[in-house]
Order: sequence, then C-alpha cells, then structure tokens
Amino acid sequence: MKVCVLAGDGIGPEIVAEAVRVLEALRSDGLKIEMEPALLGGCAVDAAGVPYPEATQKLAREADAVLLGAVGGPQWDALPRPQRPERGLLGIRKDLQLFANLRPAILYPELANASTLKPEVVSGLDILIVRELTGDIYFGEPRGIEVRDGQRVGWNTMIYSEAEIRRIGKVAFEAARKRNKRVCSVDKMNVLETTQLWRDVMIELSANYPDVELSHMLVDNAAMQLVKAPKQFDVMVTGNMFGDILSDEASMLTGSIGMLPSASLDANNKGLYEPSHGSAPDIAGKGVANPLATILSAAMMLRYSFNNEAAAQRVETAVKKVLAQGYRTGDIWEEGTRRVGTREMGDAVLAAL
Ligand code: NAD
Ligand code: IPM
Ligand code: MN
Repeated sequence: MKVCVLAGDGIGPEIVAEAVRVLEALRSDGLKIEMEPALLGGCAVDAAGVPYPEATQKLAREADAVLLGAVGGPQWDALPRPQRPERGLLGIRKDLQLFANLRPAILYPELANASTLKPEVVSGLDILIVRELTGDIYFGEPRGIEVRDGQRVGWNTMIYSEAEIRRIGKVAFEAARKRNKRVCSVDKMNVLETTQLWRDVMIELSANYPDVELSHMLVDNAAMQLVKAPKQFDVMVTGNMFGDILSDEASMLTGSIGMLPSASLDANNKGLYEPSHGSAPDIAGKGVANPLATILSAAMMLRYSFNNEAAAQRVETAVKKVLAQGYRTGDIWEEGTRRVGTREMGDAVLAAL
C-alpha cells in the first residue's frame, strides 16, 4: 500500500511524525506500506506558490491512502482566497472525491475527568458523526464579495443534490448497521430548502434500511442535545458545515480535540486520514501537541483503506494502554497523571504496541 504523507503546517509535522513512527513499527512487523511525503497547505504555498501543487496531486491520486496533519496559520491569513492553505485541503478533498467524513467521538474511560462535562454525562460515549465533505455551502456557486448599492456584500450558495444526499445517507445507514442501528439526521428544514431536501431524501432512503431507526433533529437543538445528553446518539449524519461545527463540539465530550480522529472516504474506501483539529498555531513548535488523534487516524487508515482490522485494533489498544498508564499531553492532563510532550507520547504508544 502506498501512502502519501502530508505533514502540513503548525503542529502538523510534529503529530504526523509520531503517526509515521507507529506505521514504521508495524512495517517492521510485516505491514506492507510505503510512505512518500508531499506538500499541502501553507508549506506548499511557501515552496510552490499554491496550496495543492501538481506534484502533490499526482502523488495523492496514485496513492492508496493519504495521511495528513493539518494546514493553515496566521502567516497565510492575508493571502488571496485561492492561495489560502485551507483551499489546499478543500482542493484535495474535492479532487479525490472524499465525500464521506467519519468522525468518531469515543470517550476512553481514563479521560472521563478530562472532559469539561460531568463524567456521568460522557462516560461510555461512542458516537459516529458522518459529515458530508464535498458539497454544501463550502463548495456552492456562485459565491463572492462585491459592491452593491455602494456597500460591500458577501454571499455563498448552500446547495445539495439528491444524489449527494443519498450517497452520504447510505454511508450513515451502513455504518449504523454495524453499530447500534440508529441514525439521527441533522438539518435546518424549518428554514432552509436545501435541508428540507436533505430530510426528504433521508426519509426515502430509510425505506431500504428497515432495521435502522431514523430520527431527525434541527441543528440548533442537536448542538444543545450534544452537551445535554450526548449518549442518546449513535450515528449522526449531516451536511458539510453543520458537521464541521458539531464535530468540534463533540470532540470536547471526549476530553480534547486532540483525541478526535477522522477518515474522509471516497466510494471505494480510498481515504484521507487526519485529526479533526487544526494546525494549533498557539502551540506549534513547542513539542506539546497531542499526537493521539493523528495516531488514531492512522488506525482508521489501517481499518478502511488497508482492510486490516487487526493492525487497526493493535494501534487503538496501544493508545488505550498509554492512557491507562497515565500518559497525558497538556490538553488532557489532570492532577495525578503523567504530563508528557508529543514525542514522549509517541514513545509510549510505540512501547505499548
Ligand atoms: P485548532 O483546532 O487548530 O485549535 C483550536 C484549539 O485547540 C487551540 O487552542 C489548539 O492549541 C488546540 N489544539 C488543537 N489540536 C490540538 C492537539 N493535537 N493537542 C493539543 N491542543 C490542540 O483551530 P483554530 O485555532 O481555529 O485554527 C488554527 C488554524 O488551523 C487555522 O488556520 C485553521 O484554518 C486551520 N484548521 C485546519 C484544519 C485541518 O487542517 N484539518 C482543521 C481546523 C482548522
Ligand atoms: C476541518 C477544518 C476544515 C473544514 C477547514 C480547515 C477547511 O475545519 O477539517 O474540520 O472546515 O472542513
Ligand atoms: Mn473543522
């Protein structure tokens, strides 16, 4: 299997290095994997003038999977929109047609006190957020900023086709079948036509999944319910923008955004694997970032793209073990546990493997 490795910006190189070490350890135990680095995001802008250079595109297209850290940072925030690092990320997602973003929010028992919510609210939490990733207001045309009647206006287009809704719905229903057989579809149908269509298509699709219970929730209530009683959810399926926001919210149920991995898949399980968090410019270069979301993303890569459940579980078990041993980066640290940096956390995972 060929994996294109995109460290990206900010803490990206630090956290990806630890995931790569884990994969190298598995390789020395027989995992067939080749890793090739390339540039995406701000580092690509600096080196090649664009956030998703052709060389990266070629490598990513040829690869069986892509491992990514994060992109972006304040030094690139003033650039014209097409050159922004985030455009590189959106570009690769669209180019590889990675429409299905899986963001599992699982609370490891050892982190029950790291969450800002009461332990009894989050203990045993296991939610899968299925976020549509290549449509919605993120990609809708037309869009822009222009002067109308003497003042600037900005506008975007929120749009979904029924085919786009159906294919992400299928992913959610299929995933629910392997879990607790419940799908909650999140929309804003009381206001937005695009999400009325979303709800209609979900209801039509549910006829093919009589064994899965479908419910609907408006996104504002869903945001509230996620902190009030998150364990009511099994699979949540939603559009690109609502999914972006709800998955960051869900990450804090698990203790830290540094714990939330993600897989972005196409129709054939070719995938891009990245933590759900960003480049964390505030802690970049300090060696303190939590690498576990990235290591757990590598585990998702083993599961979905390598079809190697045993290797995926081996990595996940190692992560559970280091948490049980008390290793904590700053974001999940609490009294009585052992505070470590990014590299030491990686060392601990390697030892546990
Ligand atoms: P962020 O996720 O980078 O950071 C939010 C907060 O969480 C910060 O306090 C940060 O220190 C902390 N944090 C994030 N990851 C952590 C980790 N692994 N360990 C410990 N703490 C961690 O979000 P932001 O500050 O809004 O965005 C910063 C930049 O990242 C922006 O340029 C944004 O566009 C970009 N971004 C990129 C991605 C991506 O590449 N997938 C995702 C989100 C944001
Ligand atoms: C994420 C990020 C991206 C998104 C940005 C950086 C384009 O927030 O992966 O969640 O909004 O999808
Ligand atoms: Mn996000």
